[in-house]
Amino acid sequence: MGSWYPCSMPGPATNDNCATLLGKHRIAFYSRMGEGHRTVHLFFSPGRVNLFGGHLDYNGGPVMPTAIDRGTFLAIRLREDGLVRLQSRLDSQGLEFELGHEPKAKSGRWVDYPVGVIRELLKHFDAGDGTPDVRGLDVLYGGNLPVGAGLSSSASICVGTAFALNEVWGLGLSRQDQVQCALDAEREFVGVKCGIMDPFAIGLAKPGHLLWLDCRNESFEHLPIDFKKLSIMVANSGVQRELAASEFNKRVQQCSQVFEELKQWVPGVQCLRDVTPLEFEKNRTRLEPVLERRASHVVAEVVRTFAARQALLDGDYRRLGQFMTETHRSLRDRFEVSSPELDLLVEAALEVEGCYGSRLTGAGFGGCTVIMAHPDAVPDVANHVRGRYSEEKGWMPDVEVFHGDEGPRSIQL
Ligand code: GLA
Repeated sequence: MGSWYPCSMPGPATNDNCATLLGKHRIAFYSRMGEGHRTVHLFFSPGRVNLFGGHLDYNGGPVMPTAIDRGTFLAIRLREDGLVRLQSRLDSQGLEFELGHEPKAKSGRWVDYPVGVIRELLKHFDAGDGTPDVRGLDVLYGGNLPVGAGLSSSASICVGTAFALNEVWGLGLSRQDQVQCALDAEREFVGVKCGIMDPFAIGLAKPGHLLWLDCRNESFEHLPIDFKKLSIMVANSGVQRELAASEFNKRVQQCSQVFEELKQWVPGVQCLRDVTPLEFEKNRTRLEPVLERRASHVVAEVVRTFAARQALLDGDYRRLGQFMTETHRSLRDRFEVSSPELDLLVEAALEVEGCYGSRLTGAGFGGCTVIMAHPDAVPDVANHVRGRYSEEKGWMPDVEVFHGDEGPRSIQL
């Protein structure tokens, strides 16, 4: 069993707190990288929690995530030469390479994320033109986000790296370009067939809002959420998502296979999201059982996500919570990405008056659940979930309130 990111930097990233945490991170930078006369630039990049639209992004569906006030810290200092040194506070082993000689193959370690981003960013500058200040750098990563817990530590690192290097190298990329670099790094260099949700949720975050992202055409808008009436909590099962990469890629493949079959019988559809419940009903018996279960989740989840959007706009958080719990049941029974630990966290939260809904978040197979509750109910929900989980699993889970976040930014001390 693991726990939150094991570094001494707890607490949310309000700008004040962020400054304190990054102050400590800068001290760690000097002790790892040595003193130097050039400025050390500090950055914060949030994680994300997905509230609605489970496993819809790679099916072209709508999703509603929000960035959270926990994330990745970066300390960066430009060098006189072309060397790049990447270090993390979680790993004594870093990576060094000369610009122009970036690793060409992934290593299976955390450094693949920044290396992937650097490779993408370097495609965007023309050395002959001479404008961008692209030289070597020392980078130290850290943060207060649980790693591998379904809160998108990987997209947090990738978007944070794209944002920070865009600043220090003066590349002039738009936020959407930075998001695209982060996405391409994960898909092409790291090799995860992830959808677009995570980097968009982080790169386009707006405080006090959920992101409504239509993954069919990448259109988005920010929908307000009233944190006085609704708290977003996250409970960490402490179970590492060992199956996540292989099983995630398998779900992507199954969805694409079932779409190929359905499109023979349903005219005009571009992605699984386009198959309506009626069309699915007419054709479901033609599908083999496992593919029928996967598609039935996606088709119902699309309808549910639109209904959840309406409940959010109506300020009906109780109804919104019911949709969230229905999503969990569908991810458990039809998409089969839950685990006994995640189911227990969800069940325990729902036993408390004032809890509106709960579901697993991220890909599943371990990691975290998200809970929506009335702010007055937060202490009871947290105590009950901790109590029931530790009784049955012998381990005390972290259960905390997370706030929204404004996205990647430079922090001045
Ligand atoms: C992971 C992926 C996302 C999304 C979710 C499931 O977090 O990175 O793209 O598919 O799983 O909703």
